[in-house]
Amino acid sequence: MPTAHTSEMGPLQTLFDETIANEQRIEPRDWMPDGYRRSLIRQIAQHAHSEIIGMQPEGNWLTRAPSLRRKAILMAKVQDEAGHGLYLYSAAETLGADRGDLTVQLIEGKQKYSSIFNYPTLTYADVGTIGWLVDGAAICNQVPLCRSSFGPYARAMIRVCKEESFHQRQGYELLMTMMRGTDEQRAMVQESVNRWWWPALMMFGPPDDESPNTEQSMKWGIKRHTNDELRQRFVDMSVPQAEALGVTFPDPELKWCPRREAHDFGEPDWAEFMAVLKGNGACNVERIANRRAAHEDGAWVREAATAFAAREKAAS
Ligand SMILES: [Fe+2]
Ligand SMILES: [Fe+2]
Repeated sequence: MPTAHTSEMGPLQTLFDETIANEQRIEPRDWMPDGYRRSLIRQIAQHAHSEIIGMQPEGNWLTRAPSLRRKAILMAKVQDEAGHGLYLYSAAETLGADRGDLTVQLIEGKQKYSSIFNYPTLTYADVGTIGWLVDGAAICNQVPLCRSSFGPYARAMIRVCKEESFHQRQGYELLMTMMRGTDEQRAMVQESVNRWWWPALMMFGPPDDESPNTEQSMKWGIKRHTNDELRQRFVDMSVPQAEALGVTFPDPELKWCPRREAHDFGEPDWAEFMAVLKGNGACNVERIANRRAAHEDGAWVREAATAFAAREKAAS
């Protein structure tokens, strides 16, 4: 919508504003404000890093899967997450970011990834709980991003969300299988859900009144719902799933509110969230050390690929 303000900033700004207002897509070659580009690079990079770091907690159980079937499923899931990361780094590159730089920023702690991946995976039930709750929360966050105003990100999200919903089902199926097993297995599932429930709620970010970027991101169409709206949606979605599974969530305040037609629930421990975000979670150091080692160990592959590409080009 053109205003006196935007027309002062020129026709390109006006065109950008109109594209956003009309719910059309901004594409890489279009003019965009620097702030829009920076916010998107930050958001997409953080998302890509989360996919890549997110391979570690579950990857931890690959060598100890309880059966060949579970191992094959878990292997495929972890590989999917690698694919999501690569897909998203490509989307960031369409904005002029360099994948190598983004990796360096991750390793040096200058860019974040989701705090959820700094929690340890203590039992095989955690593989199921992560699929159900962590991939489930990711779906709540990401389905609206299929309508992101930035074309490459929105299109990437369509495929990513399809795979995430498969991940969620496999996690739920794993837990359902364990719930049909022994008392010990049922206890293992409940203990796992108790540990992951609150960190899963924290995946939606701080409460709206403490989320400084939300308002601008919503105006730009790179965020479609507030953190609290998405958190509420996730809680409402998860409660009947927990009932069907036969587990409870560790929140005495969780109950249906007929007036709001939604569940009331307790407040996550935001001091814990901030501590994990600042690097003091159980696994922050280990996650980054592993990522750094993988990057350094892969240097020869990148060098060989670059040399091979140069040779192919010279020969053609
Ligand atoms: Fe993913
Ligand atoms: Fe996933």
